[in-house]
Amino acid sequence: MKTIKEANIYNKSVIIRFDYNVPVENGKIMDDTRIISSLKTLNYVLKSAKKVIILSHMGRVKDEEDKKKYSLKIVCDYLSKLIDKKIAFCDYTNVEETINNNEIIMMENTRFFDLDNNKESNSDEELSKYFASFGDIFINDAFGTCHRNNASNVGISKFLPSYNGFLVEEEINNLDKLLDNVKRPYTVIMGGAKVSDKLKVINNLIEKVDYLIISGGMAYTFLKVKGYNIGKSICEDEYIDYAKKLIKNYSDKIVLIEDNYIEDKSIKNIEEMDDNNIGYDIGPKTIECYKEIINKSKTVFYNGPMGLFEKGYEYGTKEILKLLNDSKAFVVIGGGDTVSAVNKYQKENHFTISTGGGASLEYLEGKKLPGVFL
Ligand code: 3PG
Repeated sequence: MKTIKEANIYNKSVIIRFDYNVPVENGKIMDDTRIISSLKTLNYVLKSAKKVIILSHMGRVKDEEDKKKYSLKIVCDYLSKLIDKKIAFCDYTNVEETINNNEIIMMENTRFFDLDNNKESNSDEELSKYFASFGDIFINDAFGTCHRNNASNVGISKFLPSYNGFLVEEEINNLDKLLDNVKRPYTVIMGGAKVSDKLKVINNLIEKVDYLIISGGMAYTFLKVKGYNIGKSICEDEYIDYAKKLIKNYSDKIVLIEDNYIEDKSIKNIEEMDDNNIGYDIGPKTIECYKEIINKSKTVFYNGPMGLFEKGYEYGTKEILKLLNDSKAFVVIGGGDTVSAVNKYQKENHFTISTGGGASLEYLEGKKLPGVFL
């Protein structure tokens, strides 16, 4: 990987792409993890560069209304307070003047250019060149966007000497610990509603893991294959064949669920489910079984909630996070919903949390990320 340490940034105008796609509600940033994670690279560059020009996207911009919703001005003000320095905000008017007259500049949401033929998201060449014209060197530290081939993270790199920042380097190093020379026993815990979302990651990791815990909503497709009555629980019938093959080939590694919280919030063993029951969360017997596995694991990757926690079925997700935090394993957590659950239930933790949901999953699927420069 081409890292920031190799870049000659002394007295240069350095363009840095961060992922400031942060949740904002009622004019308030609800989670600043991505902003905090950008500080290492930002402070490093600020020490010796002549100036810093920051690029980022926020949200998916589809119409003029979205421009109000997704302005980066709020991030600019937040970051400026955090580093205690003035940051000039530029909405692409008076660009030259703003860049010439300031040391730190944050450009408005790069996806505003999507309103013109999706130029940012399609990595339009002219737009990439335009972004490149803002400085001399390009640093990509937007790990969460590394799986996207956009003008402001990948297109721009064709026109400038380009390197990855500290966050991208750290994230890739952490994920590599889940792919090669893994400390064993190695357990992957997959939750969430859909098999379809996790299939490629499972395919890439199954040979490497000692245990694959398939839990949450996606477990019911597998339980159906095993002949259990899953009632009206979520099931992806189009993945039944896939589930069958996986169970047949890896029965020694796959762990499912033994009991669950159902629609009236009572607990039922899986073999006692009737036609009308719906499983919404895993139960205490399942947790006991996972506990045994987690306690002996040296490496764990966890992705996807155990139950519908946002609707009050929070037992399983809470308990699993507690177990993981009590364990001595190297624990990596990825995925937007899972990270929200950590913030809600296990804020104090020793986890390695990825700032990129889609990006980390695609990397674990074995895909090459276009935003990681080699
Ligand atoms: C994310 O939050 O996953 C990244 O910022 C990428 O956003 P996107 O899925 O809209 O490209």
